[in-house]
Amino acid sequence: MSISYIAEKKLFTIHTVHSTWQMKVGRYGHLLHVYYGKRTEDTDLSYLIREMDRGFCGYPYEARDDRGYSLDTLPQEYPCFGAGDYRTACLHVIHADGSQAAELRYVSHRIYEGRYSLPGLPSVRASDTEAQTLEIFLRDRNSGLEVILYYGVLEQSDVITRACRIQNSGEAPIRLLRALSCCVDFADGDLDMISFYGRHSMERNVQRLPVPHGRLSSGSTRGTSSHQANPFVILCDRSAGEEQGNCYGMTFVYSGNFLAEAEVNQVNQPRFVMGIHPDGFCWTLEKGEEFITPEVILTYSSDGFEALSGNLHDLYREHLLPRQFRDRRHPVLLNNWEVTEFDFTEEELLSLAESAADLGIELFAMDDGWFGDRNRDGSGLGDWTVNREKLPSGLSGLSKKIRKMGMQFGIWIEPEMVNEDSDLYRAHPDWCLHIPGRRPNLERCQLVLDMFRREVRDYLFDSISKAIDEAAASYVKWDMNRSLSDVWSAELPADRQGETAHRYVLGLYELMDRFTGKYPDILWEGCSGGGGRFDAGILCYMPQIWCSDDTDAIERISIQYGTSFGYPICSVGAHVSASPNLQTGRSISLKTRAEVAMAGTFGYEMDVRTLNGEEREQVRRQVQEYQKYGDIIRQGNYYRLTNPYENHVYAAWQFVSKDQTESLVSFVLLHAEANPPFRQLRIRGLKEDVRYRINEEERVYTGSALMYAGLPLPVLWGDYQSTHFYIRQI
Ligand code: GLA
Repeated sequence: MSISYIAEKKLFTIHTVHSTWQMKVGRYGHLLHVYYGKRTEDTDLSYLIREMDRGFCGYPYEARDDRGYSLDTLPQEYPCFGAGDYRTACLHVIHADGSQAAELRYVSHRIYEGRYSLPGLPSVRASDTEAQTLEIFLRDRNSGLEVILYYGVLEQSDVITRACRIQNSGEAPIRLLRALSCCVDFADGDLDMISFYGRHSMERNVQRLPVPHGRLSSGSTRGTSSHQANPFVILCDRSAGEEQGNCYGMTFVYSGNFLAEAEVNQVNQPRFVMGIHPDGFCWTLEKGEEFITPEVILTYSSDGFEALSGNLHDLYREHLLPRQFRDRRHPVLLNNWEVTEFDFTEEELLSLAESAADLGIELFAMDDGWFGDRNRDGSGLGDWTVNREKLPSGLSGLSKKIRKMGMQFGIWIEPEMVNEDSDLYRAHPDWCLHIPGRRPNLERCQLVLDMFRREVRDYLFDSISKAIDEAAASYVKWDMNRSLSDVWSAELPADRQGETAHRYVLGLYELMDRFTGKYPDILWEGCSGGGGRFDAGILCYMPQIWCSDDTDAIERISIQYGTSFGYPICSVGAHVSASPNLQTGRSISLKTRAEVAMAGTFGYEMDVRTLNGEEREQVRRQVQEYQKYGDIIRQGNYYRLTNPYENHVYAAWQFVSKDQTESLVSFVLLHAEANPPFRQLRIRGLKEDVRYRINEEERVYTGSALMYAGLPLPVLWGDYQSTHFYIRQI
């Protein structure tokens, strides 16, 4: 049993293979947090909860003179605003009388095999033998406010998931101003928080800061998880690194506004909370109504970031990404966006496809520009019928011709958007998010459809399904090219407008669920101007996400490095693009561009017709290499061998098959040096006493030699050169 309860002590203990979570019902009924960290024997750790009258720290009325029992310093599982805890809270409500206090106390609990369910929300999937659930029922004595805390335990994965259901069992309405999903309090410790900030075309930069007195937060209020922040953070020891130290990964399974916040209180106890961002949020619970928070995935490692990322990569592959893609290699695709943008004809696409087919490329993805009056980004969005001027034989005609070449065919869509210059907008100007009487903010000349509205979703489902059917699509890229603003829905009354942003996300998930349910064999790729919605919520529906609109291989090394902390490599959309690169003007060899794109889903986004004979041969070999190494890349363990923020001379990363018989090491020289020193790369994850051969070399190495003495790196000539090593057990 991974969950146990000792009734006399009112003590809950959750074990995963390497971690322990413990909590206890305090003597006045509050659910207190005891411990989360390295697995401990099955003992009572509640000695960690220490009390002292600290002054200016109140205590519940019934505690009378028991002054040490202060909610302001006691570690808690689901802290509330307004009743004596002044730290960042999970729950903040307004009652019908305007008061804002809540105090939750334990009522009962339930332990069962399998997982809790979160209707309408994506979440981790596991069978009854893989997971257990603990539900703890809490109630506010003075109102109808009730909360069920869910703890999902995947013992073998070293993962605990959390979410909650907030319900109103009283007569009067309750408004939620803040309804986060999870809190982790620590008894002590100097922690750093690592967050992943960015911008369009430079997502998931790594920022590591000490958790201060006062609050440190990462979050998004853009309606999407965003380029600017990512709903994944790590809390860790000050000394933690790739291979050592305590670290905690927290991932929000959600694609909208989020907050990840940490603070250290007056007596040096760190607190961390995560959930829907409270800015702009307000949700009314009428009598009998409930609100379900999205899920947070928590995982712990005592051995640094490498193991932490490993836990998450395995979890995604086994329990989060759509199952049917788990063992499937991605087809190597060619996308026409960076080749043609909006300016193409059927003839041109066919000549590109023909050239790609000849190289062994397996799928042709037609990007933006195939529908409506879509000759520029200012028109056509919303009109999901084919543009016959560009494609005279329609989607079906084009698709047939491409499939005849032996390739699969796929299309690009951006369902959530509308241009003012579109038939859809002319017919339904009220379907977009807008505030009556106020001109909406524009981004890329487009407005956001109100995904909460059923008729909007039905229109999108019908018109896009028709296009998918006509195209006989094997692949669909779902894009989303702006942030939300003017968030107001005609469907909701004035006092419920604070629900619109979350209802948008629920509508989005409902539509994604419908599409992926109807077309389970289509390979769906998420996208939001590159990686602006790279999150676990989307990955529950779509097994891959276009990682960034920055396709420069050198910049991609940093972007893919940051992304790898929280997300598996098989989900990272990566393509070989033109040189000089369209975003940076940097010239990089075809070899290096392919090397970097192979740390992802691998494809091409360049005019392959312009390649000379030698380059065409090279591309054929690259396609075959990806087919050969695809399984290790998708399913293997991943190791970050260098940190691009520290090592500006070279970058290296590694894949190792689960059975440790094969490995692929990639090495890119970032900065060529005169008279360079010799370097050995200490690689990871092999078996110490097993003998391995590198590429087709005669020389044989033991795993321990390669891991501890190192693999000798070649001296390469010129910036941005690369090589890889295929290592195989003999
Ligand atoms: C976004 C995507 C690109 C491309 C364009 C098309 O920016 O990230 O890959 O699809 O839209 O408009």
